[in-house]
Amino acid sequence: MDYGPAPESTKEANAWLDQHERRFGLFIDNAWTGAGAETFATNNPANGKELAQITQATTDDVNRAVDAARRAQPGWVALGGHGRAKILYALARLLQKHSRLFAVLETLDNGKTIRETRDADLPLAARHFYHHAGWAQLQSEEFADYRAVGVVGQIVPWNFPLLMLAWKIAPALAAGNTIVFKPAEFTPLTALLFAEICQQAGVPAGVVNIVTGDGRTGEAIVNHPGIDKLAFTGSTEVGRIIRKATAGTGKKLSLELGGKSPFIVFEDADLDAAVEGLVDSIWFNQGQVCCAGSRLLVQESVEERFLAKLKARMDNLRLGSPLDKSMDVGALVDPVQHQRITGLVQSALAEGCTVYQPACELPADGSWYPPTLIMGASTSAGVAQTEIFGPVLVAMSFRTPVEAVQLANNTVYGLAACVWSESISLALDVAPQIKAGVVWINTANQFDAACGFGGYKESGYGREGGREGMLEYMTHLSEDARPAAPVIETGKARIKASDEGNPFAIDRTAKLYIGGKQARPDGAYSRAINGAGGQFLADVGEGNRKDIRNAVEAAHKATGWSKASAHNRAQVLYYIAENLAARADEFAARIGAMTGAKNPEREVQASIDRLFTWAAWADKYDGLAHQPPMHGITVALNEPVGVVGIICPNEAPLLGFISLVAPALAVGNRVVAVPSEAYPLSATDLYQVLDTSDLPGGALNIVTGSADELARTLASHYDVDAVWRHDGKAEGCAEVERLSAESLKRTWTSGGKGRDWYDNKQAAGRAVLYHATQVKNVWIPYGV
Ligand code: NAI
Repeated sequence: MDYGPAPESTKEANAWLDQHERRFGLFIDNAWTGAGAETFATNNPANGKELAQITQATTDDVNRAVDAARRAQPGWVALGGHGRAKILYALARLLQKHSRLFAVLETLDNGKTIRETRDADLPLAARHFYHHAGWAQLQSEEFADYRAVGVVGQIVPWNFPLLMLAWKIAPALAAGNTIVFKPAEFTPLTALLFAEICQQAGVPAGVVNIVTGDGRTGEAIVNHPGIDKLAFTGSTEVGRIIRKATAGTGKKLSLELGGKSPFIVFEDADLDAAVEGLVDSIWFNQGQVCCAGSRLLVQESVEERFLAKLKARMDNLRLGSPLDKSMDVGALVDPVQHQRITGLVQSALAEGCTVYQPACELPADGSWYPPTLIMGASTSAGVAQTEIFGPVLVAMSFRTPVEAVQLANNTVYGLAACVWSESISLALDVAPQIKAGVVWINTANQFDAACGFGGYKESGYGREGGREGMLEYMTHLSEDARPAAPVIETGKARIKASDEGNPFAIDRTAKLYIGGKQARPDGAYSRAINGAGGQFLADVGEGNRKDIRNAVEAAHKATGWSKASAHNRAQVLYYIAENLAARADEFAARIGAMTGAKNPEREVQASIDRLFTWAAWADKYDGLAHQPPMHGITVALNEPVGVVGIICPNEAPLLGFISLVAPALAVGNRVVAVPSEAYPLSATDLYQVLDTSDLPGGALNIVTGSADELARTLASHYDVDAVWRHDGKAEGCAEVERLSAESLKRTWTSGGKGRDWYDNKQAAGRAVLYHATQVKNVWIPYGV
């Protein structure tokens, strides 16, 4: 039996476009501007025909939008949680009431099938507003220690225009921020319709501003000094540009970038179900999905059988008018994507790969690309490494679970992964080993407002959805209480001064601490550390690039620390505290001699206390089990970030060091620490404490020397996952942020401010653990 045509009517969508005379201005301060001097067309990808003219917003337009948002922000906060909740709830209701209009408009503008816009984009967008109406309602209790960030700039791509809008706008509004939002230039229409919904829902003037345009408008938002936070979804390339542009500005940043996600099929998987999962994973939205399962990794023993089933399924996929309710595959967003995909597939053919495409007829007009399977690609081939962002699957095989994990992680990205196996113990063993923010077990492309979504590695940082997503739009209140950076002279004498007054009998030269051993600095230079009175105290090694490389290598090898049980990590931290306490007098004398502090015992006692705090947290920073609307659970795991480079503060040289290094270790990170440049001896004196406290070699490495130079090396190092810089040097912190853009590592910096290390609010608690961890959501559906 053949399918008959089942076209969706475009009558209402066209009427809406006509009502606007198919020319749109901007939505600023609750009013429409007329169409701007420069406009561009937005087209229907399925036939190439123009739908409307859209305004290219200028820098002046963006300035006006930011001003409106700034004016509106105090009033939006003053409305209170319940006031905001009612408006978010109204937005959810209105999205539902007009869902078909939104769905048709989205399909017209984007080219994705009506089946998807109607059944996925719209319900998920509405759910996001419902869920965040709830967070607005609960904010004052659940986030009592936080405030809204302020004015946020949000820039989204074209692949899920309305859904990405919902993911961005709902949490930002719930938390009390006001917004300047830019949709992608290919797909601005549903955002403009949403502006009308905002008017109907009673969103106060200036709270949501929608500016359209291309990357130039995006740049104007990114560079506007009145923007307090930027949330971006799009290509890794633009993500890097934004990271560099915002370095040193203090703007909060979340980036949701590209992916090359593995789809792993073990031999014991339900192969038919896995084929269906794969269809959802790579042919959903024509593969124009950041978390698309674009790399099939199938166990060798079932490879042939699986590929045969897959090809048969591909033969049955229906490609054609996206408005036809029975179509599986729609049009690509724009001819430019077609060119890009064609080029990548041709490069695979040139490299000797085999390409399978079903014999489907492509419509004459518009941009279309058939479902495609590439076989025989090497792991380093362009198609195996580059985000294709199209309906193209690259298949490879593996023999063992270990090899599957290696292949899965063989990518610069880390957004998502699918694991298919009927063995729950195998699947749950593999999931934590995959470096990705989302792992779907025996399912694919599931999303829910209660479950965070976001990447590891070059897929970006920050999460959307869930509690962790709300945190991206809030600032911890203690940030407002931070003191100015203390003025402490660093880069003291390199040459030994007088020995007179040195309270330490024997001249000790502190080496570096790498891989659990003391190591001479590679450059064979030392710097003398003189005391507060100018007296010589000791020499410390002058670490260089090579030392940092050795330390990072040692940290990478120390995988045992990340795998150790939380109980075990807590024990080690308690043990360090115990051994430090045994030598408290010695440490106090050293701090006194270095800094001239009147009551150095206080710092040692506070350090012991802080070690207890982090030991206590080690086995208590548990994740969550979400119950999204599916038959199953989603487990949100707090995972360590990986290898963290930490530039420690100069004030409170022991307490500052402990306050940063201990939380990183508590949750399983491995650390390369650069102690206070001015007063490093409190850290070098710790070597013996560490040696007697069962800390495995490589879990903590310590390199003394120039903070600027060592921070630069850490921030540029591709195998370092995060860099924290807390020495109050504004320019140095900006440089760390700039350099971090290359490998998109996470940063946490003090900027030009200090921190009261004695204050638990400023230097301990969940706000610190947020930086030390990343959330992985593992989706586990069940049922027979
Ligand atoms: P893009 O990253 O250039 O565009 C995304 C958004 O950023 C758009 O709204 C765009 O106007 C804006 N933008 C562009 N340049 C900007 C700048 N300098 N400053 C601020 N905003 C800027 O992505 P594009 O060109 O649409 O797609 C290119 C490739 O990027 C795709 O083929 C795909 O590989 C990848 N991509 C990944 C997405 C994801 O969700 N991970 C989404 C879209 C694209």
